[in-house]
Amino acid sequence: MKKLTKGFAVAAFNVIASMTFSQDANMGSIDMTDLSLIPLPSHTQISGQHFAVTPETRISIDPGHAEAKAIGAFLADKINAAAGFNLVVVDGSPSKTADQTISLTLSKAKKELGKEGYELEVKPNAATIRAPQPAGLFYGVQTLRQLLPPEIESTKPVSELKIPCVKISDRPRFPWRGMLLDCGRHFMTKDFVKRYIDLLAYHKMNRLHWHLTEDQGWRIEIKKYPKLTEVGAWRKYEDGTVYGGFYTQEDIKEVVAYAQSRYVTIVPEIEMPGHSVAALAAYPEYSCTGGPFEVETQWGVHKEVYCAGNDGTFLFLEDILTEVLALFPSEYIHIGGDECPKDRWKVCEKCQARIKHEGLQDEHELQSYFIRRIEKFLLSKNRRLIGWDEILEGGLAPAATVQSWRGVDGAIAAAKSGHNAIVSPTSHAYFDYDIGTTDLRKAYSFEPIPPELTEKERKHILGGECNMWTERAPQETIDSKVFPRLVAMAECLWSFPEHKDFANFHQRLQRHYQRLDALGVKYGAEARPVSILANFDPAAKKFTITLEAGEDDLLLYYSLNGSEPALISHLYQGPFALSDTVIVKARAFKAGNPYGEIAERRFVKHAALGKKIDLSKPYSHKYTGGGDFALTNGMRGTLNFRDGLWQAFEQDDLEAIVDLEKLTSVQRITTGFLQNSGSWIFFPTSVEYAVSDDGKAFQMLAILTHDVSPKQQDAIIKDFVFELPNVPARYVRVRAKNIGVCPAWHPGAGGKAWIFVDEIMIE
Ligand code: ACM
Ligand code: ZN
Repeated sequence: MKKLTKGFAVAAFNVIASMTFSQDANMGSIDMTDLSLIPLPSHTQISGQHFAVTPETRISIDPGHAEAKAIGAFLADKINAAAGFNLVVVDGSPSKTADQTISLTLSKAKKELGKEGYELEVKPNAATIRAPQPAGLFYGVQTLRQLLPPEIESTKPVSELKIPCVKISDRPRFPWRGMLLDCGRHFMTKDFVKRYIDLLAYHKMNRLHWHLTEDQGWRIEIKKYPKLTEVGAWRKYEDGTVYGGFYTQEDIKEVVAYAQSRYVTIVPEIEMPGHSVAALAAYPEYSCTGGPFEVETQWGVHKEVYCAGNDGTFLFLEDILTEVLALFPSEYIHIGGDECPKDRWKVCEKCQARIKHEGLQDEHELQSYFIRRIEKFLLSKNRRLIGWDEILEGGLAPAATVQSWRGVDGAIAAAKSGHNAIVSPTSHAYFDYDIGTTDLRKAYSFEPIPPELTEKERKHILGGECNMWTERAPQETIDSKVFPRLVAMAECLWSFPEHKDFANFHQRLQRHYQRLDALGVKYGAEARPVSILANFDPAAKKFTITLEAGEDDLLLYYSLNGSEPALISHLYQGPFALSDTVIVKARAFKAGNPYGEIAERRFVKHAALGKKIDLSKPYSHKYTGGGDFALTNGMRGTLNFRDGLWQAFEQDDLEAIVDLEKLTSVQRITTGFLQNSGSWIFFPTSVEYAVSDDGKAFQMLAILTHDVSPKQQDAIIKDFVFELPNVPARYVRVRAKNIGVCPAWHPGAGGKAWIFVDEIMIE
């Protein structure tokens, strides 16, 4: 990096490839770390001066240009709201930059900046944004917003509006920079969706992939089929609660117009042939069996799908799409296509007749037939089809674009066969995943172009998307999952890879948080702030506890008495040992403030600690809970079934015999189980306790049952406790009965069910 020199006259602008400013440079009065643009522009030059926006400043546009005028008004509104000014947009002279003017102009812009590129020059007396197209002017304004003080984003009064003098030339790497919002699983208000459009635009993202139909809810009014929303928008739980909501066509028009004014294209997703139970609850005649169905309350992949053998299904879907096309000007229309089980098609007369009549090989080709037929309809209306990567199975529709989510293989296959692709792999781009699984660094390392592609094939990668699925995320939790990861995604999709550097991005992000604060974004942590790791020594019956920080500048505090960790709790300074029943709670602190969630681990001391266990059926190698001592290691599991603390049995019952090594007076036996039915994990139907002196002849003590509904979808932990009057025993046997297979109502009906157990505690 070049050293920075003061003043234009001496050194003109200094070129900065990245935004790390050396503090020793003589920078005059401007603190250069204030320049924390995200996404990072292609080229930035900077001088030590600034331009002050005052009540006399004008915003000028090309005479009579309506779009430029709207963009100018957008900027004026921001400034006026924050500073109490009355800036107005005036027609300017494109050839001249007048004093005290912010000019937005389409004239004399470099064509190579493309549809969305721009140049921004800020001098001490004026600022100019030049772009070949209005979208570029809009992005220039977004950059200008980030050069102004953060207060510009709030209605907090700001006394001084100074813009550092810069010369920026900028354009995006990818034309498709998107985010999926799943309003099917959880409904989001119109205002919330508009707010996200604003947040996307602010980060120079330009696609909102609006997931509008799901098994659990149909969210878009279709005039020809009113039951889609009368019935399909509402799901009813067993306890009588009803959940739902939908957007009227007027709502949609309003949101689409709002998005257009922010250069965001809304790509609607109307799912087919799977994920369509809500639609089929309203119109069961378009299923294979004829129904009836209820709008789903269970998350997962459901077997009821549109019948591909019924021509009526296609007429129905084409009618729906006709109304959708009238509402959404997007060239691309998403039709889902993912996760469509073929169970019903395999036994449906109509579907089988279709397979025969069309000369198809199997149900995968039937899915391909389905998508091709819909694509033909869309093409006839001058629109293009996008589907998830499953649309590759059975043969890709001729002009389809593939959205690759199960890794990047779908994108590779699409690009190699001359199709366009959008890349949004679960590994980097699923922001419904917890921050421990996909942290900020991981999200930032996202590279949309798979290295397998040739120069020519790479052109088919339109860009990428981050996906916000909402099974476990109602509206009020969305910010904390999407941010700050979306900021990383924005840079991955806009900035060129030669400028990407996590440390540098991370530094800019710390400044950017002030802007997110001003925008009212309730962002979450960058990484799991603190993890509690434990090692159990069976011989010593001791735990060694290690706390791990997710970021550099954190201090970790912990408590051992169940209290919420605070700055008066123990400061973590290194691994420590435990040998008693204790709840360890740990929390990270950043600059003296609590940062992120509290981590919690429970340790129990009991008579079976470190004792050998004999299992009649082996535990699953996928969930070992830590191995042979998992059930007597004193460590309790958490609600996360992947936490490494649960030992699992697939379809088998659990039968465990604990050898206490000598005759022991037993007063209480407790076994902990997890239920997470959405992940096919159920409580045992019964838990039986028996004791023995010799390990052969057992005396039955109790058979415990429970009344927790298997339909409860939230993860729960339950201890099966039996108290007994000091019975002497050397061996304790625990038998837990597996429900066997997922029940008929369950999305995985007939699939192998799991038992998850964490500890057998004997006192
Ligand atoms: C998906 O996540 N089922 C596209
Ligand atoms: Zn059928």
